[in-house]
Amino acid sequence: MYQKRPGVFMADWWDADGRRHRKQFSTASAAREHEHRETALAHAERAGREMKLAARSSTPRRSKHAADTGTIEPAKGKLGVMIPGMGAVATTFVAGVEAIRKGLAKPIGSLTQMGTVRLGKRTDGRSPKVKEFVPLAGLDDLVFTGWDIFEDNMYEAATNAGVLDYRLLEQLKPFLSTVTPRPAVFDHNYVKKIDGPNVKKGKTKMDLAEQLRQDIRDFKKSSGATRLITMWCGSTESYIEPTEAHQSLKSFEKALRDNDEMIAPSMIYAYASLMEGVPFANGAPNLTVDLPVMLELSRKNEAPICGKDFKTGQTLMKTVLAPAFKARLLGLSGWYSTNILGNRDGEVLDDPGSFKTKEESKLGVLEHILQPGLYPELYGNIFHKVRINYYPPRGDNKEGWDNIDIFGWLGYPMQIKVDFLCRDSILAAPIVLDLVLFLDLAKRCSELRGLGIQEWLSFYFKSPMTVPGLYPEHDLFIQLMKLKNTLRHLKGEELITHLGLEYYD
Ligand SMILES: NC(=O)c1ccc[n+]([C@@H]2O[C@H](COP(=O)([O-])OP(=O)(O)OC[C@H]3O[C@@H](n4cnc5c(N)ncnc54)[C@H](O)[C@@H]3O)[C@@H](O)[C@H]2O)c1
Repeated sequence: MYQKRPGVFMADWWDADGRRHRKQFSTASAAREHEHRETALAHAERAGREMKLAARSSTPRRSKHAADTGTIEPAKGKLGVMIPGMGAVATTFVAGVEAIRKGLAKPIGSLTQMGTVRLGKRTDGRSPKVKEFVPLAGLDDLVFTGWDIFEDNMYEAATNAGVLDYRLLEQLKPFLSTVTPRPAVFDHNYVKKIDGPNVKKGKTKMDLAEQLRQDIRDFKKSSGATRLITMWCGSTESYIEPTEAHQSLKSFEKALRDNDEMIAPSMIYAYASLMEGVPFANGAPNLTVDLPVMLELSRKNEAPICGKDFKTGQTLMKTVLAPAFKARLLGLSGWYSTNILGNRDGEVLDDPGSFKTKEESKLGVLEHILQPGLYPELYGNIFHKVRINYYPPRGDNKEGWDNIDIFGWLGYPMQIKVDFLCRDSILAAPIVLDLVLFLDLAKRCSELRGLGIQEWLSFYFKSPMTVPGLYPEHDLFIQLMKLKNTLRHLKGEELITHLGLEYYD
């Protein structure tokens, strides 16, 4: 609940489908009461749906899965990585892979490269590296292409982004200069702050989708890749809500032919990829693959999807701290998050439409972790605010401040301040690498490839996608456990529950 102006109070809540609602009241107590009632109803609705889902997916499905477990095709040949949006994140990722391949740097921050997975009991001493435990593509097998509205090759784009050191980029120049952007599918109405010359033309959005599909086939042929992945690293598009056009493949294809304005460019890339059977990950908060049509297409063509919005800086911290408050039953009255950043992403987010897409993605986290419907006295009345301010002098080096007002025993207030001086793309690049390798694993795995959404990859996202009716897990450590247990499950290893009674038998 918040006060809009004197005498105007807004109830503010999420429904069971994760949609946000606001309603105006003339008194604070009426707004608060309405908000609590709606939140409780939403939680009850979700709990009911989850029980139904659990009942539906019980015994017969599990035994089918058990039979499938372990059928993972080997990672043979080259893996083609296709990136719409060759800006700061994309270039830091590709340059980083090349630097690691050349032995110039280490893959710090990457779970697939540096992480381990414990197997069996704590006393067994079995903790292989993730990349040795499951068959992942090697870094030497990665080949790249991308699309952008600007004509700069990856060396020029990385230089403009200003993330990586000039000396490192000079060593990588021969390789980075060879990765040039294909003309993009772009609509200025969806990203108001930028415009560029390298854009495809077509009479209808379906024509544009066909051109992207041709790009995909051409890249597969010219690169010799045996498998492909698409990773959206493009700018954040303006906020829209799903419409009739997004509900089924039939209505979406009609809308593409009719040039429906509710079809954003990122959706055209997603459609083209999934039609070609290529998995798609969404690093931005746009809807893109978080739509019924994309789930349908993903399942039909066995092309896994995941998203949305890389969880890198401030939200990473939020999903570490909020679970700690809930674990200790410490109350929360307010969380004010503000950021300054000066890269192109910051400039794009300066537009209210793009900012709203990002804001929705950042705001959802606390509600889901703290479950105010279950703990109304602790989390029923939180003032949560997120601001992003474009401030050019900082470039990609963002500063994110959090002021957190909590309360403890007998209601005594306390404050926590977090000041994270982070580097946006340095935090995002290893996430891109892991998602590329894990999505490729999912595509090669008989049990995962037909599921559509890969919820086990929630670990990497601010707004993890889930099947309709299931609320997302935002707690970073639950997400990590889910990810590692999925890997154990795929390899027929025992899941780790941390029960641990057996050590005291
Ligand atoms: N860096 C992070 O920590 C982080 C975290 C979460 C999400 N993200 C998201 O990742 C995305 C990329 O971030 P960035 O810092 O690299 O931004 P950026 O502005 O440097 O790069 C985005 C690129 O996308 C291009 N682009 C825009 N629309 C396009 C289209 N339709 N087709 C092809 N190219 C298009 C732009 O020209 C630009 O080069 C953004 O949406 C950002 O919000 C970044």
